[in-house]
Amino acid sequence: MKVTIVGAGAVGASCAEYVAIKNFASEVVLLDIKEGYAEGKAMDLMQTATLNGFDTKITGSTNDYSKTANSDIAVITSGIPRKPGMTREELIGINAGIVKEVSSNLIKHSPDVTLIVVSNPMDTMTYLVHKTTGLPKNKIIGMGGALDSARFKYRLSEALECPPSDVDGMVIGGHSDTGMVPLTRLATRNSVPVTAFLSEDRLNQVAEDTKVGGATLTKLLGTSAWYAPGAAVSGLVQAIACDQKKMFPCSALLDGEYGLSDLCIGVPAILGKDGLEKIVELQLDEAEIAKMKESAEGVKKTNGLLDV
Ligand code: NAI
Repeated sequence: MKVTIVGAGAVGASCAEYVAIKNFASEVVLLDIKEGYAEGKAMDLMQTATLNGFDTKITGSTNDYSKTANSDIAVITSGIPRKPGMTREELIGINAGIVKEVSSNLIKHSPDVTLIVVSNPMDTMTYLVHKTTGLPKNKIIGMGGALDSARFKYRLSEALECPPSDVDGMVIGGHSDTGMVPLTRLATRNSVPVTAFLSEDRLNQVAEDTKVGGATLTKLLGTSAWYAPGAAVSGLVQAIACDQKKMFPCSALLDGEYGLSDLCIGVPAILGKDGLEKIVELQLDEAEIAKMKESAEGVKKTNGLLDV
């Protein structure tokens, strides 16, 4: 199992580390445009192999895509992250060109690859890859909801004063401060609806804190986060590599599901060896449907800035 990660920056390197530590891939190639950077990150990570006990071989490459040949899965994290006060949508001008070029280079050397798009604005970048590469739609997946759901569960566990592992919950919709739809109605603590423990006001606060989860960290760190994003991507990579049939909210190209079409947006999906194998349609209530519709309008507005 060969995994390529383009962009050896904060998120790409974190993802490489989690993939290696989970020890399911034979090879990880890190590729970056910055001279020597991916080689350096790969060497540093390889020097953790005996410390962390993994056998994955990690190599680096400065923009030489022949090194990525025959990758089963490729992750695109190349591009610029946001700075404090910026929205993800503001990154489109620079990142669209990078994502288009990177995805085309990857496919030239790995025609059967499954692509996981991470660069922001992620839903629009995922849509761009669908529009420009011609890969089958199950082979292009955007990562956002897995991270947003992890942040949601963290905020719920804070409110419930319980360990995060006791909590389950999901965020669907667009991966943006205004587009996320945290499904508070369906969230549970040890299978009991969280509505049994938390007031409506407290749950609304949890939802709002989740939506600005990325912005909160960007303010604290001066740039966007990397541990949870890297871990979330590695979960998607593992589900595909190990044919786990696990469900994650992913940015998928919709064709009528949830009453939406011709956009990529976060919906629950089953991931396995064929990539995004099935979109799961939840029974949403009226308020949730309205939020999804509003979220989709926001994503489509950003898609309108693309030259496709
Ligand atoms: P970073 O700046 O640390 O790393 C980006 C890397 O991409 C840099 O090393 C840069 O040299 C490289 N790069 C730029 N152009 C390239 C090209 N044409 N080919 C190859 N490499 C190229 O940024 P970070 O923090 O790793 O974030 C990366 C992207 O992921 C950003 O767009 C960020 O907004 C996004 N992101 C998305 C998340 C999600 O949930 N979808 C979560 C966190 C970040």
